[in-house]
Amino acid sequence: MKLYKANIIFTREKEQFEVVEHGYVGVENGRVVGLASNADAFGEDVEDVVDYGDCLLIPAMNDMHVHAPQYRNQAISMDLELLPWLKQYTFPEEAKYKDTHYAERMYSRFVHDLWRFGTMRTVAFATIHLESTRLLMELFREAGMGAMVGKVDMDRNAIDALHVRVDEAMARNEAIIAEWNDPDGLVKPIITPRFIPSCTPAMLRACGELAQRYQLPVQSHLSENASEVAWVRELEPESRNYGDAYDRYGLFGQTPTIMAHCVFTAGDELELMTRRNVMVAHCPTSNLNLGSGIAPIRSFLNSGVKVGLGSDISGGNDLSIMRMMVYAIQMSKLYYNHDKSKHFLTLSEAFWIATKSAGSFFGKVGSFEPGYEFDALVIDDSDLNHDNYSLIHRLERFIYMGDDRHIAVRFCRGCEIPEPRIRD
Ligand code: GUN
Ligand code: FE
Repeated sequence: MKLYKANIIFTREKEQFEVVEHGYVGVENGRVVGLASNADAFGEDVEDVVDYGDCLLIPAMNDMHVHAPQYRNQAISMDLELLPWLKQYTFPEEAKYKDTHYAERMYSRFVHDLWRFGTMRTVAFATIHLESTRLLMELFREAGMGAMVGKVDMDRNAIDALHVRVDEAMARNEAIIAEWNDPDGLVKPIITPRFIPSCTPAMLRACGELAQRYQLPVQSHLSENASEVAWVRELEPESRNYGDAYDRYGLFGQTPTIMAHCVFTAGDELELMTRRNVMVAHCPTSNLNLGSGIAPIRSFLNSGVKVGLGSDISGGNDLSIMRMMVYAIQMSKLYYNHDKSKHFLTLSEAFWIATKSAGSFFGKVGSFEPGYEFDALVIDDSDLNHDNYSLIHRLERFIYMGDDRHIAVRFCRGCEIPEPRIRD
């Protein structure tokens, strides 16, 4: 067993932080054995003790929704709402990923920068292309970082270069599944119909059947933007709501499912999400940039719907999940201003959402309770701690005003993760 010594902070429950000042975490076979304030508590079989001095040790970040092929578009072209934004900026960029050399250059930067910001697990959209999707998965594997990667399925309402026939799309999925469907793997496939407007009923049905056949997770977009929701109503007149449309195709909790945004989710749709245990990937910067609105996070928490945070690059502009916690808290305060019955998020709630709640999609990830995979960040905030702040205030300052320069060491599944190589 290996011991790591630091100021340990994590959340078991969303209401409060657990803190062990100058404590030890014991790690064996990639998993947490336990926490103690004294090294003796771990008995005889301690091989090594690594002392991180006065640093903080926190669970690593999880990005539950991000588009890897939109990395080059990060922080540009934010002058349109969702549907025209997709057509004008996003689809043409994604079409470039037919070129694997372009994909390698961009995807290696993307994986590198997830590492920079301490994101050790990612649920990503790739594109419709088989080779570049494989490449993205390979880059995550080489980095030693966890990921669920979706080859995107779409066959209508985009541009010709991104439309793939259902049989061809499924053949590509089968090829990825044959190579990557290892239950213990850190990098895994996830079935990814882009969203209802991009997929014919035949495509949606095929995606649902594939997920069912291989018991694979599903990701997509749900109730993000008013014009999109209205369009889905026209496209799926039989469905009671947008979520119900996915449900009819076996894409709403029949296997573990994560839906990005859910800005307009309420009533029957919220009830169905709760029943089907569908997770929400809350993407606050994306919802701001694309003029989508404010997701009702407190309603999700009250209903017991699991929530995680997503950067949603390039609808979103910021890859940092620490910063995403801040945006989530701030947006919940705007929501609260219009509905005083929905109290805004606290720091421990936002932290729990980003770590333990999100991490549950990967198994036992996002906490330092015994049995959890050791995904962790060592935070050297010495330049932010000039006046002996309390440990919780130090964490708060790191989240609100720190950045990647304060992350000294990163762990995923018990292994220290070195800086991934950028390819040119
Ligand atoms: N809905 C369908 N595709 C996309 C996308 O690429 N980004 C966002 N934010 N929403 C979508
Ligand atoms: Fe998205």
